[in-house]
Amino acid sequence: MKLKKTQVCIVGSGPSGLLLSQLLHNAGISSIIVDRQSRERIQARVRAGVLEWGSVDALDEAGVGRRMHRDGLPHDGFDLIFDDDLHRIDVKALTGKQVMVYGQTELTIELIARRLEQGCEIIFSAQDVQPIDVESDRPKVRYTKIGEMVEIECDYVAGCDGFHGAARQAIPSRVLKTFERIYPFGWLGVLVEQPPVSDELIYASHERGFALCSMRSQTRSRYYVQCPLSDTVEDWSDQRFWDELALRVGADVAGKLRTGDSIEKSIAPLRSFVAEPMRYGNLFLAGDAAHIVPPTGAKGLNLAISDIRILWRALIEHYKKANDTWLDRYSEICLKRVWKVERFSWFMSTMLHQFPEFSGFEKRMQRAEFDHIVGSETASRSLAENYVGLPLEM
Ligand code: FAD
Ligand code: DHB
Repeated sequence: MKLKKTQVCIVGSGPSGLLLSQLLHNAGISSIIVDRQSRERIQARVRAGVLEWGSVDALDEAGVGRRMHRDGLPHDGFDLIFDDDLHRIDVKALTGKQVMVYGQTELTIELIARRLEQGCEIIFSAQDVQPIDVESDRPKVRYTKIGEMVEIECDYVAGCDGFHGAARQAIPSRVLKTFERIYPFGWLGVLVEQPPVSDELIYASHERGFALCSMRSQTRSRYYVQCPLSDTVEDWSDQRFWDELALRVGADVAGKLRTGDSIEKSIAPLRSFVAEPMRYGNLFLAGDAAHIVPPTGAKGLNLAISDIRILWRALIEHYKKANDTWLDRYSEICLKRVWKVERFSWFMSTMLHQFPEFSGFEKRMQRAEFDHIVGSETASRSLAENYVGLPLEM
């Protein structure tokens, strides 16, 4: 067996793990990242597209914001469409803040390149990755690569390995509490090399189901439609997708839609999930490893980034000031914010999707939520305040 040593061993090379590694490096703290996927697979995943300004600031602070400012699109607002009635949420006027439309894929590609350039060891395609001895003060991460077993000894393990990862499983079931809601539908996403239908994002509720018009650049668009969980991408030809999207966004928007051959198509299930606590011994969970939100509020990546900011601050206090108060409070500080963001994502999802079990009453409630937002600046501001990101209270 081969042995390695580092200060913080990070499981997962998604945005959470990579950003943590970058921030630690900037402060002179060493880390090794272990991921079960290949670099190519990680860099090909199409996921989030909207960054809160707090996330933008965090990436700038980490020194990885150059490409984001060059290629990202700052947005002042977005549209809500409910059964063909349109209401713009003027995020900038309501909160004084913007959001940045920028692909998670691009961010991940840049972070991986930067970390490797700086000499960080990222182990891709590792098998049987497992945090061990996390209750002790010498925790380890064990994995196998090309038939050889390796152990990385460290001070702390950061479990940044997403919802299906191994880190959460290292917390005994007598300690771990989980809270979950599975939604009875998924999102079918399509990426296309065509200019976006509108300058801003459009979230549409329609009797045929939810639809979202988003973008990656002035020439590349990202669209989603709600679909049954039993559907597969093979059920959806490009033509079927465009026809369905056009019906759901209404004639005005559909008239401007630029369609084309999809360059990526995938289905994601919708889930709300929280694991408590987010720390066990010297293992800290962050990002999707600890919580999942349905994508409707564009919060998953942003929540991952805020966990990392809190964890980073706690680790800096430990290494630079021998103060463990922040590490001790990590789970409590994160979870307070996590639950507020869970609430917002659940609210947006519940308002805008068709639920097979909803009767006339719940459907009227959905419409009443929309009408309330349209008629009340206070309600619009509350939505906008959540969309741009709640303050990080540390
Ligand atoms: P991940 O990105 O899941 O990374 C985890 C890493 O761990 C992966 O590289 C994986 O290969 C690795 N891993 C897994 N298991 C193991 C193991 N056993 N051992 C080692 N490594 C392992 N969020 C937003 O904020 N805004 C949006 O607009 C938005 N839109 C979304 C749209 C869709 C369709 C989807 C699916 C998600 C969206 N999200 C959005 C959510 C966002 O993508 C996630 O919250 C984000 O990827 C979380 O980052 P992470 O680093 O915590 O986890
Ligand atoms: C995107 C995804 C979301 O979940 C969202 O709310 C907004 C945009 C996107 O992929 O572009």
